[in-house]
Amino acid sequence: MDKLIIEGGARLKGEVVVSGSKNSVLPIMAATLLTDQPCIIKGVPNLRDTNTMLKILRSLGKVAEFDKGTVSIISTKHANFIADYKLVSTMRASFCVLGPILAKLKKAKVSLPGGCVIGLRPVDLHLKGLVALGADISIDSGYVIAKANKLKGHHLYLGGGYGSSVLATDNIIMAATLAQGKTVIEAAACEPEVVDLAEFLIKMGAKIKGHGTPIVEIEGVKHLHGAEHAIIPDRIEAGTLMIASLITKGDVLIKNVLFQHLGAVIDKLQEAGAYIIKPDSAVHVRCKKKLQPINVTTLPYPGFPTDMQAQIMSLMTITRGISVITEKIYPDRFMHVAELNRMGAHIQREGPHAIVEGIKQLSGAPVMASDLRASASLVLAGLVARGQTLVSRIYHLERGYDNLDEKLRQLGAKIWREKE
Ligand code: UD1
Repeated sequence: MDKLIIEGGARLKGEVVVSGSKNSVLPIMAATLLTDQPCIIKGVPNLRDTNTMLKILRSLGKVAEFDKGTVSIISTKHANFIADYKLVSTMRASFCVLGPILAKLKKAKVSLPGGCVIGLRPVDLHLKGLVALGADISIDSGYVIAKANKLKGHHLYLGGGYGSSVLATDNIIMAATLAQGKTVIEAAACEPEVVDLAEFLIKMGAKIKGHGTPIVEIEGVKHLHGAEHAIIPDRIEAGTLMIASLITKGDVLIKNVLFQHLGAVIDKLQEAGAYIIKPDSAVHVRCKKKLQPINVTTLPYPGFPTDMQAQIMSLMTITRGISVITEKIYPDRFMHVAELNRMGAHIQREGPHAIVEGIKQLSGAPVMASDLRASASLVLAGLVARGQTLVSRIYHLERGYDNLDEKLRQLGAKIWREKE
């Protein structure tokens, strides 16, 4: 297993290209289960998670390849309806195979994904939605067993205690594409990745309207066919690179960005003092003036993304003054706080709030990555800390960032890998 070593203090400068979106590609790969025909997905990031999804698709009978950013689903051999614990437990997003398997094969047995370090992550909304479409659902030995001879369209409300759910919306949209009649999802997630999935499904022959709004309508069709699609850029990787530029007082042009997906992030970074210009499909980020503390609350899209909470916290640790960061999606998603404090940060956690008192400089330390975005926040902190930071357990980072260390190195960061 590798660890990352970062020698802090280098000012980042230059150009970098963002990879395809992790959160788009995973459900889109799952959507290929709705057809036996070939599908081509382009702009696929090379991640642990995309490789896990590839293994899941193969275990479900797909003949699939991944080469130079393209996933090709070539054919289906003996479609299987069981998604095994060993694969599903490593990646929560794999639970979104449930809707497509059920819709296509009339039965599905998918392992429950379980909780994770960022807190309890229930699947009640996924199950509620499928039951509303007529599925008979039971849970046995850690598996969800779903059966439905014929899914039927339904008008349902899919909101939960923390608002809409991205993957539950994905799962129900996918199941509804092959249901009989019309499904209306109220309180659907509006994230750009849900829109990307819907666009792929439409290319496959699905009839979907309203995607990107809280009310999505799906008119079921009998069959879906193969399709080709290019994945949208990863807005979280773009946001992470924007903070990498700011935290190092750098000057970075970030390419392959859809800035309309980054409204809340750009707004908060500008409030903190960033100078951001938006040439075509890119953002140019540098510090305009001394950074100011800001208050940030995470919310479902188009609000500030929970997947950027840890990274903006790193930026606030070296911004003089008090910033308050409130987590409204995963109230326990604060594993990075203790590690940032080990680097000298002054962060106090109060329930769903983190109160950050900015200091002049962090100091490098050995730290441990606990989850994907927490890992990114530690790398960002390491870029600016005095001395060396050693980030261990970087397989978390590899789950969701395509070669982040290489990209940072291209921009001048002193960052390298060593064996643990
Ligand atoms: C997706 C993203 C993840 C992001 C999250 C929130 C993918 C692959 N992952 O995860 O990166 O952090 O959205 O933007 O797209 N909830 C329930 N019941 C459910 C499902 C969810 O109560 O059945 C709750 C969750 O615990 C959480 C909130 O709803 O508090 C939002 O979670 P959700 O949008 O479902 O997250 P994911 O889709 O799993």
